[in-house]
Amino acid sequence: MWLCLVCGVILLALGWVVRDRQKISSVKDKYVLITGCDTGFGNLLAKTLDKRGFRVLAGCLTQRGADDLQRSCSSRLQTTLLDVTDNGSIQKAMEWAKAEVGEKGLWGLVNNAGRSTPIGPTEWLRMEDYHKVLSVNLTGLIEVTLSFIPLVKRAKGRIVNTASVMGRISFAGGGYCLSKCGVESFSDSLRRDMQYSGVRVSIIEPGFFKTAMTNLEGIEKDLDRLWGRLAPDVRESYGQQYFDKYVNIQKLSMNILCDTDLTKVTWCMEHALVAKYPRTRYAAGWDAKFFWVPISYAPTLICDFMLALLLPKPAHSV
Ligand SMILES: NC(=O)c1ccc[n+]([C@@H]2O[C@H](COP(=O)([O-])OP(=O)(O)OC[C@H]3O[C@@H](n4cnc5c(N)ncnc54)[C@H](OP(=O)(O)O)[C@@H]3O)[C@@H](O)[C@H]2O)c1
Repeated sequence: MWLCLVCGVILLALGWVVRDRQKISSVKDKYVLITGCDTGFGNLLAKTLDKRGFRVLAGCLTQRGADDLQRSCSSRLQTTLLDVTDNGSIQKAMEWAKAEVGEKGLWGLVNNAGRSTPIGPTEWLRMEDYHKVLSVNLTGLIEVTLSFIPLVKRAKGRIVNTASVMGRISFAGGGYCLSKCGVESFSDSLRRDMQYSGVRVSIIEPGFFKTAMTNLEGIEKDLDRLWGRLAPDVRESYGQQYFDKYVNIQKLSMNILCDTDLTKVTWCMEHALVAKYPRTRYAAGWDAKFFWVPISYAPTLICDFMLALLLPKPAHSV
């Protein structure tokens, strides 16, 4: 009985590995549009896919980012300016891509553009802080997806959405966790709605990686700004010690947690584009696989306890 069970599990695991390794027949003449290619994962993915023979349409926020990327890639890769918070910019990029891909359609849409700040204790934030992050990470991603769906459907292609482990556990106030939780939810409904169209939808859930987004200087500077604009009575209720500890925890976690190997994330994105059977979710990085994703299934009590151990207590606590 036990032997049968063990053999069954081993066979299932082997079957999964074989299935997972199957690739599409060719990437030649397959178009992939990536958002946020100026830096980080998007930039590396654009270069990797270009080397692999894909026709990359790289969306960059700045002309400088586009020029730098173009210089380091083949002439197959093309860039366009794309601000995912701007409806006009999205429509312009879509019309350009439509003309480029023609009848073939768009094989891949990789929604990668994102921003993390403002991030901090909820009481320190204003509505405009939420809008800043949500307009890029969530509503921007939704608008890009809705605009490009017809092109992806034509190719029976792939949509790859970048979420985060912070979309599974909300451990900082602000729009970031909220936006990534929204990306998970949007991608789940999109996947189910697209299942009969041949379009496959994958979610990438990276842990912590060293990119411009996790740059300590930027995070500290923004926390300083939030702290400085608080009403004196609110600031007093937290106390200077709280602020200092909060900043130190960011330092500690960014220094200890951030992985410098960005290929762990771009490998997942690439797999979602070239695998015959792309996965629904990809946990990228050891911290995501062995800590954040497992802990996200733990009872809320345990998560709350762990985060309470990590985070400081305000001066005026009950
Ligand atoms: N790094 C991590 O630890 C981590 C973990 C989980 C998930 N992620 C996600 O991974 C994705 C890529 O982030 P990254 O770590 O590679 O950081 P990154 O280097 O800062 O890349 C983000 C890119 O998005 C661009 N961008 C910002 N606002 C935009 C807008 N309105 N329209 C179009 N592009 C815009 C940025 O351009 P500029 O450089 O010109 O501002 C930048 O090129 C993001 O969705 C992020 O949330 C990152």
